[in-house]
Amino acid sequence: MTRTIGIISGKGGVGKTTITANLSVALSLKFAKKVTAVDCNLTTSHLGMHFGIFFYPKTFNDFLKGDVAINDVTYQHATGVNILPASLNLSDLVGINIFEIREKLQNSLTHSDFVFLDTAPGFGKEALSAIRACEEALLLTTPELPSVTDILKAKNILQQMNVRCLGVIVNKVTGKKFELTKKEIEETVDIEVIGQIPFSFEFSESLSNKTPLVAYNQMSRASIEIFKIAAYLIGENYKEPSLFEKIFSRIFKV
Ligand SMILES: Nc1ncnc2c1ncn2[C@@H]1O[C@H](COP(=O)(O)OP(=O)(O)O)[C@@H](O)[C@H]1O
Ligand SMILES: [Mg+2]
Repeated sequence: MTRTIGIISGKGGVGKTTITANLSVALSLKFAKKVTAVDCNLTTSHLGMHFGIFFYPKTFNDFLKGDVAINDVTYQHATGVNILPASLNLSDLVGINIFEIREKLQNSLTHSDFVFLDTAPGFGKEALSAIRACEEALLLTTPELPSVTDILKAKNILQQMNVRCLGVIVNKVTGKKFELTKKEIEETVDIEVIGQIPFSFEFSESLSNKTPLVAYNQMSRASIEIFKIAAYLIGENYKEPSLFEKIFSRIFKV
C-alpha cells in the first residue's frame, strides 16, 4: 500500500525540502523502501537541486498540464529515490490548475511504498492543494515560537481536510537555552514530537555536493536523527551506530 505523506510548515526556510529529500533517501537506503518525492512547491521549486538535478526535459508541471505521462517526469536518483521535479521556470505555471494535484496523483504512484509531497510554505492555495493530496502529514517547525504557532494552524487544516497527522519534527535544534524544548512544543501544540534534528552546516555542505546528507554522511548526528524518524514511520527501531562504527567509517570513509 502506498502512503502519501505531506511535509508541511507555515514558515519557509524551516527545512521542508531538506527533510523531504533526506527522509526519502533514508527510507530507500536503509530500509529498502520504494520512495517517490514530488515537488509540489511549484512557484519556488528546489527539490531537484537537493539531488543534483537542475535541468529536466519534462517536469511535474507538464504532467499537471496533462501533456505527458507520470513516467516521463520521473527521474531516478542513484540512491533509488524517484523524483518528480517541478519546473524552475515560472512561465511553466501557465495552464496548471493547482487544485488538481490530488486527482492527478491519485493512482499514479501505486508502485511506491512512500510518496512524499514537498509543499509550499504557508497555507495559501499552493500549499492547500498539496495538503489535499495527502493522506498523512508531518509537521515541521524550528524550536521558535512563530514557527510553532503555525503548527497550530496546520493542525486545524489537517483536521478539516481529514489528513492524519503523524507528528511534529523539530528542525535546526541547537539546544540553546532560549529555544523551546520538546516538552514545551508538545504542550503548546498537543501533538507528539517524533524527531529532533540538530542544526548542522553539513546540510549546506551536502547540498553543495548535490547529495542529501543521509547519503553524504550516514554517520553524522543529523543523519542518525533522520534515520530514526524513517524507522518510526515504518514502526521499526533504528539502532544507532556504535562509536567504533563511527570511527571506522571516518577513517575508511565508508
Ligand atoms: N537542520 C538543519 N541545520 C542547518 N541548516 C538546515 C537544516 N535544515 C535545513 N537547513 C538549511 O536551511 C535552508 C532552508 O531549508 P529548506 O529545506 O529549503 O526549507 P523550506 O523547504 O522549508 O523552505 C537550506 O539552506 C538548508 O540547507
Ligand atoms: Mg522548500
